[in-house]
Amino acid sequence: MTPETVPTKVDDGRAALDTLTQATLVSLRAPSILNSQPWRWRVRNDDVELRVDPARRLHRVDPAGRLETLSCGIALHHALTGLAASGFAGHVTRLPAGEAPELVARLRLGPVMTPERTAYEAVYRRRTDRRPFADAPPAPDDLDALCAAARRHGVVLTFVTAAQVESFAQIVALAAAAEREIPAYARDVTEWSDRARSSGDGVALNDVPAPGRHRVPPRDFAQGRAPGLAAGDGTDGGTVYAVLATSGDERADWLAAGEALSDVWLTLTARGLAASPISEVVEVPQARAALRRLLAWTGVPAIAMRIGRPGTSEPPPRSARRSGSDVVGLPGEA
Ligand SMILES: Cc1cc2nc3c(=O)[nH]c(=O)nc-3n(C[C@H](O)[C@H](O)[C@H](O)COP(=O)(O)O)c2cc1C
Repeated sequence: MTPETVPTKVDDGRAALDTLTQATLVSLRAPSILNSQPWRWRVRNDDVELRVDPARRLHRVDPAGRLETLSCGIALHHALTGLAASGFAGHVTRLPAGEAPELVARLRLGPVMTPERTAYEAVYRRRTDRRPFADAPPAPDDLDALCAAARRHGVVLTFVTAAQVESFAQIVALAAAAEREIPAYARDVTEWSDRARSSGDGVALNDVPAPGRHRVPPRDFAQGRAPGLAAGDGTDGGTVYAVLATSGDERADWLAAGEALSDVWLTLTARGLAASPISEVVEVPQARAALRRLLAWTGVPAIAMRIGRPGTSEPPPRSARRSGSDVVGLPGEA
């Protein structure tokens, strides 16, 4: 669906289902942990179901499924962004009680609204940019807009202060060392990186930058292999670090954190900024506890991210995705 072809009015049930199905296709571009895309949509009679795909779980990096559920929250928010571009609010039932644990949400058409295309257009421009960012930091009103985006989902976005950056970098280094040294973690990262392009998933070495002037080094996807992306011209001097935190540590909190991450990321993309998540700090329990202490116990850290002005005008390559027929089951299909 291109911005020019989004429908703006639905006059029968069949068209409503088409609009919902188109919205699920927008979620194909959603970012996910290790690009595992751990979701599946099922189109029913008058709604669509978002289900977690247990076959895509990262058993070592994410044993409780926090980042898997968070990733599903991003897919859900991307679908809602697609609906908003079509001129519809969505009616969402999150984690319906008494249903199969795989069921994350049911989505049906809500009221007609003025089409909102800014975030929708950002879906197709957004990338994970792991290269050093520019020297100039984001503007204060950009950062305010990102906090507001997180708040829309009941999630708090906290910026690491200049005085805390050194401690934050040490926590990331601790997590990175644990993931390097403990074979179980390293296995998940190896398994989901540098996969055949035809798999439509995983992190390609072409998306991984060569070592650059990073204040906080990015995750080591290369693990001894050659990264395929030039580090570019950024100094990383203006990079800010942020943590999304929830009030609790239940599935509903993880899902809300995903919707918030999606909203923050699309908002910053629309404002010409770039970002990459840092999730090692929540995957390794000791690092997660240290991060929580750094934030003075003001919430449960769901994920961290680095945000800045792009250091290089050329965006990173578009990462691989599965196709709609892999991810969306039509009526009569599984
Ligand atoms: C929950 C989550 C955790 C992630 N963790 C990291 C991370 O620790 N380091 C990193 O460089 N990228 C991380 N990413 C980015 C993904 O690797 C990226 O979204 C995926 O490879 C698809 O690429 P794209 O975002 O450019 O479309 C994370 C993304 C999500 C949604």
